Amino acid sequence: MIYVVGIGPGGIPGMTEEARQAIENSDVIVGYKVYTDLVREFCTGKEVVESGMRQEIDRCRLCLEYAKNGKVVALICSGDAGVYGMASPMLEVAAKEGYEEVKTVPGVTAALSGAAVLGAPIGHDFCVISLSDLLTPWDLIEKRLKLAAQADLCIVLYNPSSRKRSDHLKRACDIMLTTLPAGRPCGYVRNIGRNETESKVCTLEELASEQVDMFTTVFIGNSQTRIDGGWLITPRGYASE
Ligand SMILES: C[S@@+](CC[C@H](N)C(=O)[O-])C[C@H]1O[C@@H](n2cnc3c(N)ncnc32)[C@H](O)[C@@H]1O
Repeated sequence: MIYVVGIGPGGIPGMTEEARQAIENSDVIVGYKVYTDLVREFCTGKEVVESGMRQEIDRCRLCLEYAKNGKVVALICSGDAGVYGMASPMLEVAAKEGYEEVKTVPGVTAALSGAAVLGAPIGHDFCVISLSDLLTPWDLIEKRLKLAAQADLCIVLYNPSSRKRSDHLKRACDIMLTTLPAGRPCGYVRNIGRNETESKVCTLEELASEQVDMFTTVFIGNSQTRIDGGWLITPRGYASE
């Protein structure tokens, strides 16, 4: 049996009861070290297999091997397992081998946990866009940014930066500034649910010159979003004139 478990944004308080139980019921815990460290207290007596960020398919094959040998395996990832997470590669690997005993256990994704830190920035229609061009061509990312801005969606950006692509947030903001006003309310949250959570509310123009890292999730409001009482608030509808 393989559980693909989203452990939420960080510590134990943000984890669902179902995720906790899946980890406790497993013999083997597989995941990137940052995540296995976060659930260490549930791992006593279990085999913990830590793997690097870029070895995703190998990690899935390893889980399958353990499961076929009778072990219950928890493959863990941050947030929700199905949002830029391990659920799809694990299911693809399992389907190829005709293995059916895989269960995805949902978790609280960064769009939701980060929104809660800032106030209510996704109170109306929203989309999530990853700025990582490792698996998506940059042209397509640009197209999605433009169309989401034109559609007046609240936009949540995942993977806004990394060591190799530190200018992606600026490039994304410049694209959105061709459609959106410079004063559009925005915000970002770093290390949601972990030690030293940091957040900031700012305008889109200011966001373009912010330095953020890969542990940050970014929010761009829609035309109705405002900054009020220090919170980023998107009303549930459009005010009638
Ligand atoms: C590969 S994606 C994984 C998303 C994850 N499966 C989820 O549902 O939240 C990694 C990106 O998620 C966001 N993220 C995940 N956990 C976060 C946290 N604790 N604080 C801030 N951002 C986070 C960041 O934008 C990061 O670059």
